[in-house]
Amino acid sequence: PDSRGAEPPDTTDLDRLRSAASGCRGCPLYQDATQTVFGEGDAGAQVLVVGEQPGDKEDLAGEPFVGPAGKLLDRAFEEAGFDRRSLYVTNAVKHFKFKREGKRRIHQKPGRTEVVACRPWLLAELRAVRPELVLLLGATAAQSLLGPKFRLTAHRGEPVEAPADVADLVPSALATVHPSAVLRAPDRDDAYAAFVADLRAAAKLLG
Ligand code: URA
Repeated sequence: PDSRGAEPPDTTDLDRLRSAASGCRGCPLYQDATQTVFGEGDAGAQVLVVGEQPGDKEDLAGEPFVGPAGKLLDRAFEEAGFDRRSLYVTNAVKHFKFKREGKRRIHQKPGRTEVVACRPWLLAELRAVRPELVLLLGATAAQSLLGPKFRLTAHRGEPVEAPADVADLVPSALATVHPSAVLRAPDRDDAYAAFVADLRAAAKLLG
């Protein structure tokens, strides 16, 4: 890893940011991942959605949330009444972190160092989109913007205030579980219903 290309260019043009992010070497994850998976959606989106990191499918496709978690997310957004076009979807970390087990690539949770290294790209996306609401999916996304002390279990589904350093970019925020956690939950139906309820609470925060 080195610092070449690790700093986002000073622009709010999403295409320029995406192209710059494709060469980022700000942490070691670029070495094994297929590609940078930058955010996707309209620059005028009302809601910026932050996941953890691309998974296996996203790493290959180069697009966020196209795998099983993404399918669940799409369904939940629709059920909660969100228009796809009102969303810009991205991740806290933009390279897939995994370990190999035979032919399989097993997801590994990104560490604080990787989250911090990737954060300038997330902030650049926030500057470009200027969303009304930031929806944080899972503890990694939440802690990237709200700080490492933020406890998702204590505050899921409620409006949360962003710390002063990002307050101008995060006018309102709500954190909920990651859709992968819904897929893994012992009672998936209950977990899904609670997830949709959180998304409905998020929709209510929009003007
Ligand atoms: N999980 C995430 O957090 N992001 C993706 O893009 C896909 C799965």
